[in-house]
This record gives sequence, structure tokens and C-alpha cells, in this order.
Amino acid sequence: MKNINKITNLKNKRPLVCLTAYSKPFAKILDKYCDIVLVGDSLATAMLGMKNTHNVNVETMIQHGVSVRSNLRNALCVVDMPANSYKTTKQAKKNAKLIFNKTKCDAVKVECNGKNYDIIKSIINIGIPVMGHIGFTPQYFKKFKIRGIIERDKHKLLEQALRNQDAGVFSLVLECISEPIAKIITKSLKIPTIGIGASAHCDGQILVTDDMLGLSGFYPKFVKKFAKLNNVIDIGIEKYKKEVQNKKFPSKKNIF
Ligand code: KIV
Repeated sequence: MKNINKITNLKNKRPLVCLTAYSKPFAKILDKYCDIVLVGDSLATAMLGMKNTHNVNVETMIQHGVSVRSNLRNALCVVDMPANSYKTTKQAKKNAKLIFNKTKCDAVKVECNGKNYDIIKSIINIGIPVMGHIGFTPQYFKKFKIRGIIERDKHKLLEQALRNQDAGVFSLVLECISEPIAKIITKSLKIPTIGIGASAHCDGQILVTDDMLGLSGFYPKFVKKFAKLNNVIDIGIEKYKKEVQNKKFPSKKNIF
């Protein structure tokens, strides 16, 4: 709880820096810079080559959660509840407990479908902090969509944000929400909002690390490529190939 309070207390003080990680090497680096590291179910598309996030299971989230959590010293660790793992309160409590206890994460994240507030509350009531997630929620949509453009959707999103806060979430991801409504939501909530494609008005930002480092091949408008690791890897692998083929590697330095 101490770590959670540290995050919530940062609202209106300074922007929260958040990224995703699925493995030890990334966790170790991100820990130096991030307030929150999310083991997102985006690992389905970014790492496992799946078409969407609909079929990742709890065991996979736990495996990656353990790898990330055990390599974080400072950042808050949040693990995604995968689709189909929280359809009923009974199932949600069982799976949230499994993820929380096995990974030793600080919180789980639950995507909101506009109805599952009791499920979110039931997880919080057993002592597991929850990060909410509204807007474009990939577990419930097949096609990419910007939310909060039409008036009716704006009202719906503000209501969902307030109901997540009432349910007890400690922070709320706003994914692909138009700037004006992201601003209104952020101003209306006591808890921090974390934006992804939701403007600089949010209290913090998150991106999928593989996207912002140029590794995933998925670069919608809201993703800024802060590095082009694909090119760095290409250069390294090409060099390796040449040296193997020319019998330059392994050299005397690399043998016993
Ligand atoms: O799964 C994920 O990585 C996410 C972030 C994009 C917020 O939910």
C-alpha cells in the first residue's frame, strides 16, 4: 500500500513515467526510469505473435510477471488480468489472488467493459490494488477505435472514469481518448490518469516499450519511436552472419 500511495500522491505534482515490460532485461533497465512497470497483456501481440490479446492466459501472465517483478527494485509492478480471467467475481478473485501471490506484484490491471464495476470492487475488497483501464480497451474491441469523439461517448467515458474511481481503483489508464475528454476526466478524478494516445493532459504516460523502441512493427499515431532498435539489431545480426560465414567468429579470443 505504501508504494501505491506514493504513486497516487504524485497527482498534480509531476507526470508519472510508465512503460510495459515482459522480461528480466527490460525490467532491469526500466526500473531506473519508471514509476510504474506494467506487465501488459500486449505481450500477446508484441512478443507472442498473436493477432490480439484475447487468448493470453493467466499462467503466461504469471510467468512474465515473475520475471519482471523479481528484477524491479523501485518501480511499482502492475500485472494485467488477461481476457476471460475475470468474467465472474468468483473467477476474478481466484485469478487476481493467483497473479498477486505468485508474481508478488503490487497491483493488477482490469479493463473496464462499462459493466464490471462489482468485479473490480471484489478484487479490491480482498486487498489487491487495481489499476483501471477505459477508452479503447483491446480485450473488448476487435478493431482499433479512437474514443470520446461524439458527445454520447464523452459522457459514457466520464461516467466510466468516475465509476472506476468509486469502485476503488488507484489509477486509471486512458487509452486512445480524444484530448478534450481526457482533460475533463483527469480534472474530475482524484486518482492519477495514465494516458496512451490520450494527450499530455493525463497525469502520466504509458507506451508499449517494444513500440516506442521500434521493435514491434506497430506504430500508430500515438506511438513516438524514441529509438530504432530494429536497425541496431539488424546491424548486429548481419555482422554475426558475415563473421560466421567468413570463419572470423569465433576467433582465438572466443575459444578454450
Ligand atoms: O497491455 C498493455 O500493454 C496495456 C497498455 C497499453 C496500457 O494495457
